[in-house]
Amino acid sequence: MNPLVNKLHPYPFEKLAQLLAGLTTNPEKELIKLTVGEPQHPAPQFVVDTLVEQIKGVEKYPATKGTEALRKAISNWAKQRFNLENLDSETQVLPVTGTREALFAITQALVDSSQPDALVVSPNPFYQIYEGAALLAGAKLHFLASSDDGDNKIDYRQVSDSIWQKAQIVFICSPNNPNGYVTTLADYRVLLEKSRQFDFVLVADECYSEIYFDESQKPLGLLEACQQLGNTDYKNCLVFHSLSKRSNLPGLRSGFTAGDANLIRAFLLYRTYHGCAMSLQNQAASVQAWQDEEHVIENRRLYKEKFDAVLAILSPVMPIHQPQAGFYLWPKLAMDDELFCQQLYQQQSVLVLPGSYLARDINGSNPAKNHVRMALVATTDNCVEAAKRIRQFIEENL
Ligand SMILES: Cc1ncc(COP(=O)(O)O)c(C=O)c1O
Repeated sequence: MNPLVNKLHPYPFEKLAQLLAGLTTNPEKELIKLTVGEPQHPAPQFVVDTLVEQIKGVEKYPATKGTEALRKAISNWAKQRFNLENLDSETQVLPVTGTREALFAITQALVDSSQPDALVVSPNPFYQIYEGAALLAGAKLHFLASSDDGDNKIDYRQVSDSIWQKAQIVFICSPNNPNGYVTTLADYRVLLEKSRQFDFVLVADECYSEIYFDESQKPLGLLEACQQLGNTDYKNCLVFHSLSKRSNLPGLRSGFTAGDANLIRAFLLYRTYHGCAMSLQNQAASVQAWQDEEHVIENRRLYKEKFDAVLAILSPVMPIHQPQAGFYLWPKLAMDDELFCQQLYQQQSVLVLPGSYLARDINGSNPAKNHVRMALVATTDNCVEAAKRIRQFIEENL
């Protein structure tokens, strides 16, 4: 057995199952789960139809590089969305089978574990794959805490050059899961300067980039920042995007990476051996999804409606606000997050995720302590019912 496997931490949902072991929900109320970030709005019918029409694709092996049609649909979408002058579909774009596998795989491809103290830098709290991927690649982690004073910002200027020196990958999650923070041009200016100086790769996980609340305020992307700051060949930069949240297609397993052509070339070679090409019918369906914005606008409208309804119920009883982007609420509670989760489950049959499970302790303090994550992915009716129960719980217990 690879000894690095033993370094992996239990996944947050496993910890949650342990936390709830032996507890029962309120028998008068049906359980509502706000824990898993799995989109539940309907998938676009025209994408499903294409998938069915193209099902004969199963008769062929797909190429790892993806079809030209898919790479072109992706580069057209990304150029339009992020105001890019160039994004070459031949050399700067690669389809992936969901960002989860791709974020994992890029870490294996990029980390040079022969370097003593090879570091992967991750936000804290963070999407758990960054850590598992880094550990299995033989790197150590350096966590950068999001500020806990409400703005959720990571202050990259505080990071010492000795950390940047050892860094091989810096993960950025923007919009951030769980706190919704969107990395700014000023943040990227610091990151790009340090990346140029110390030669590490910026890996931006942007899978929530299309879930935002104001049509005139789209979250900034890393490639867009590169374009604005003069890094027009995207040196040392890769973004990761997905149809899972944008188009409610988590089961399609479809996304892409784009950016630095040298990194994409090496990653393609890695992936040829890794064996994770997207099936032809999924590629054809993905082309349709990337070419349409109407369903994405409708998707955002549904989230906005849900956030408005839920926040109207909860904001009078707790400090809670709409995130900049993404579909999670991330309130800080006046009580222990694990206890809140257990008691809410028992009294109101609502399940939320303790925030501390999504972060690591640094010097004895957990930057997500006493936060909970609530994914507003269920129907508006269900989310509203959950919000009413959370409100009742707070009124009765806090
Ligand atoms: C921050 C973040 N990145 C990546 C993913 C993976 O998404 P997918 O593999 O469906 O593209 C998720 C899924 O929840 C996520 O929250």
